[in-house]
Amino acid sequence: MSWWSHLDPSRVAIAPSLLGGDLGRLAEEVRDVEAGGADLLHLDVMDGHFVPNLTFGPEVCAAISGAATRPRDCHLMIAEPGKWLERYREAGCDGLTIHLEAVGDPLPLLAAIRELGALAGLSLSPGTPLPAPGPLWERLDLLLLMSVEPGFCGQSFQPAVLDKLQGARAYRNEAGLDFALEVDGGVGPDVAAALRRAGADILVAASAVMGRRDRRDAIASLRAAAEAG
Ligand code: DX5
Ligand code: ZN
Repeated sequence: MSWWSHLDPSRVAIAPSLLGGDLGRLAEEVRDVEAGGADLLHLDVMDGHFVPNLTFGPEVCAAISGAATRPRDCHLMIAEPGKWLERYREAGCDGLTIHLEAVGDPLPLLAAIRELGALAGLSLSPGTPLPAPGPLWERLDLLLLMSVEPGFCGQSFQPAVLDKLQGARAYRNEAGLDFALEVDGGVGPDVAAALRRAGADILVAASAVMGRRDRRDAIASLRAAAEAG
């Protein structure tokens, strides 16, 4: 079973991205979104190299983990992620997602993530096509499809992700696999139904949740919009 054990795959999961919150009050932001119904906490790790922005190091992720009860879904937008997997695992990250564009061969890295006892995720930027059928897919616990260029919150949703999502879901069904499908970037209630219909299991949101005062209401609106699809 490679799904986050406490999640129900028949229900969409909402993963607020803490990067969009008040970074001077991270522990309070964690408690606020957890009380508001977040299923996962999405941690956007950027290195100023793979993407033109710099965010959370392992110590910050450890501090977030210390305040959290929900699983930490760590999105590594960094070059050479293999050098950092152990550190982010030690920082309490339950899922570690690497970018296909940042690595030569993702297979050993995905295996290393599972060996660390975390869920192995692979992320694709908008311009990257789905990988060809093959053993890579069997190593995945999570496929994260970006619907904006990685690097910043608050960008516009790119609808081309919908076809990719449908393709990934079709392949998952054909191959009898059970990795989770996650979408990240510009996700709000306006696109949630289409994403859910196309196969999204997890919706990441910074602006649509952290950018709103009432996080409970924001999470509920996003979930309701998705489930209405
Ligand atoms: C972008 C990050 C996203 C981002 C989402 O590089 O991976 O998780 O924080 O922000 P919104 O929801 O505002 O597009
Ligand atoms: Zn992200």
